[in-house]
Amino acid sequence: MNNDVLKVMTSNRGKYVEYKKKLKDHYHKIEMMNLDYPEIQADGLEEVVRFALEDLEEHSPLIIDDSGLFIDALDGFPGVYSAYVMKTIGCEGILTLMKEENHRSSRFECVIGYIGREKNIFKGISKGTITREKRGTEGFGYDPIFRPDGFERTYAEMSSEEKNRISHRGDAMEKLLDFVG
Ligand code: IMP
Repeated sequence: MNNDVLKVMTSNRGKYVEYKKKLKDHYHKIEMMNLDYPEIQADGLEEVVRFALEDLEEHSPLIIDDSGLFIDALDGFPGVYSAYVMKTIGCEGILTLMKEENHRSSRFECVIGYIGREKNIFKGISKGTITREKRGTEGFGYDPIFRPDGFERTYAEMSSEEKNRISHRGDAMEKLLDFVG
């Protein structure tokens, strides 16, 4: 157990819940901090996170998280535009775009930017399929339309503990925990 208070910089309570569930035994306290930091428009999530980490040292130890859904049949869309697409057309809009599409493979990516004694970036991926309709009420964002490979249920039909065991964010958090020891 680390005596530090770890700050999770996000306005997304769903993300915070997942961090808290998985990291609570490793930190004295985990706080959500809703602080605006610069998010550049870039081709990849890692670039966005690297840039954002530049200015945040004073709040260390901290985590920032940039994530996205990449759909193969849409050439990786919504990808780095995932937040905007969720705000505008949402899950229903994605289902409409995918209506005639039989090739439904996709992946979630999560990039954690961490500042502790040093700065680091950890990336996690989970592969799956876009469902034909929304299913489940747990989680957040695109969870109701994403069924991870090897499971019959969507992320929105799983508890946060179960999602954390197999998800992109869970994968990135495992790498963070290996690093902080
Ligand atoms: P951001 O990382 O906050 O920019 O998230 C991009 C968009 O993807 C937001 O609309 C989130 O709701 C969504 N998103 C991020 N992570 C997940 C996830 O684990 N499941 C479902 N949607 C997610």
